[in-house]
Amino acid sequence: MKKYLILAAAAMLSLTACAQNNKKMNENKTLIAWFSWSGNTEAVVNHIAEVTGADTFRIEREKPYPVEYDPCTVDAKQEVDNNVFPAIKGLPENFDRYKTVIVAVPVWWYTAPMPVRTFLEKSGLNWKGKTVIPLCTAYTAEYNTLKDIVKATPDASHLEGLAVITTKMNGEDIDKKFPQIDAWLKKLNL
Ligand SMILES: Cc1cc2nc3c(=O)[nH]c(=O)nc-3n(C[C@H](O)[C@H](O)[C@H](O)COP(=O)(O)O)c2cc1C
Repeated sequence: MKKYLILAAAAMLSLTACAQNNKKMNENKTLIAWFSWSGNTEAVVNHIAEVTGADTFRIEREKPYPVEYDPCTVDAKQEVDNNVFPAIKGLPENFDRYKTVIVAVPVWWYTAPMPVRTFLEKSGLNWKGKTVIPLCTAYTAEYNTLKDIVKATPDASHLEGLAVITTKMNGEDIDKKFPQIDAWLKKLNL
């Protein structure tokens, strides 16, 4: 009988330790909230998720953008120029459990696509206590995109972001950028 009691107590202790570890892991979990149209940012996000084990959430405009490049740029420009916050599809589940949120976007007209601004500023998510890390992919330069993500989350604290420049689309040469991305992740201790 005594032996069984000791075994039961040991099992309880190990279950408690396990639950505490899980809680700790959940509280420190990283989310990558991302938007991508042609696949470059998506490919970067997939790589980061693989390396870090972070969860991912895709930000999408409720009304999809045109699949052709030129009409898409016209649509996107109209939103940026007129400061339109378009409706987006859904929000991440259990947002509270994430301490760190990487916000990954393509540069659209020198800044973040407007659906991302909806996600950051108009969706009702609470950014207090979060650490936001901005990331973008672009054809020429990031302009103010990283700063604009910081500005859009004034309640959060922030860590150094990353701009990945690529002249290709559809994630074609993203694997060449992995060393740069990995070095950045290492610097951030992610
Ligand atoms: C609507 C639109 C606007 C863009 N505006 C810019 C820009 O202002 N500066 C830039 O360097 N690249 C610009 N690009 C290129 C994208 O930022 C670049 O190709 C990015 O890597 C695409 O990411 P994605 O494949 O995840 O959509 C634009 C692309 C699109 C579709």
